[in-house]
Amino acid sequence: MGLNPDQLREFDEQGYVFLPNCFSDEEVAVLRSEAEGIYRSDREQVWRESSGAPRTAFAAHTYNEAFRLLGSHPRLVEPLMQLFGEPVYMHQFKINAKAPFDGEVWQWHQDYGTWARDDGMPEPRAMNIAVFLDEVMAINGPLMFIPKSHKKGVLAAGHDLKTTSYPLWTLDNETITQLAEDGGIVAPTGKPGSVLMFHGNLVHASPSNITPYPRKIVYLTLCAVSNHITKFTRPEWIAHRDFTPIEPVADDALLQFARSHKVAAEQVSAQRQAHHMPSCA
Ligand code: SIN
Ligand code: MN
Repeated sequence: MGLNPDQLREFDEQGYVFLPNCFSDEEVAVLRSEAEGIYRSDREQVWRESSGAPRTAFAAHTYNEAFRLLGSHPRLVEPLMQLFGEPVYMHQFKINAKAPFDGEVWQWHQDYGTWARDDGMPEPRAMNIAVFLDEVMAINGPLMFIPKSHKKGVLAAGHDLKTTSYPLWTLDNETITQLAEDGGIVAPTGKPGSVLMFHGNLVHASPSNITPYPRKIVYLTLCAVSNHITKFTRPEWIAHRDFTPIEPVADDALLQFARSHKVAAEQVSAQRQAHHMPSCA
């Protein structure tokens, strides 16, 4: 699996590519229900908004089988191996909730700004690849991009530790105003199962979600193996230190998992019903 010449051109010019219908309803349904289970758990890897609603769950590929398969999925890993021309490893893995009514903002930032400053990543040869678990709409806190901003290099940023529960190197309003004059602002929307790849220097943000509609997105941060990080300031489950090249799984691995998981869940439910069935004797 790889990107075609039009998609490669678009990525180079605009800084992102939108790939609709990458994962089927069956594949997305199991990921969605596993994500909800993770948000209900009280692991240190699940960070919450000030309201207590989930904000982000880190490193689920290390403790959940469905997300392990997603983290090694050829539809996500192979396009990045193609772009970087070498194997990739997982630098970070997040399931961002943007919870109904309570999902707070992600301020304007560049991902590579954080990876360079906090993790000592040598070059912007890493990027986020986003998988929509819910429908992303104009109204439920979509990602917003400033097209072409990836051509500007790493921009000056301030370390914001206060606005949300998530520390971020953020850009000021004047910088955003200037960049938006050149590139405008877009908010790619789409059905569950859509995928968005975006350059590590593409400037982006997302507004709060004050609707009743959830907006869960999984982010794989894949980094070229030769570009691995050199500074270890954040916990291992936020900025991974295992630089082993990802070996893509079979294309149908997640689908097979979804099917076997569904059968197992149906068996448990049938056993429960039998157990509670009123006796006629
Ligand atoms: C991010 O920029 O890393 C996350 C933004 C979002 O999920 O809205
Ligand atoms: Mn980001």
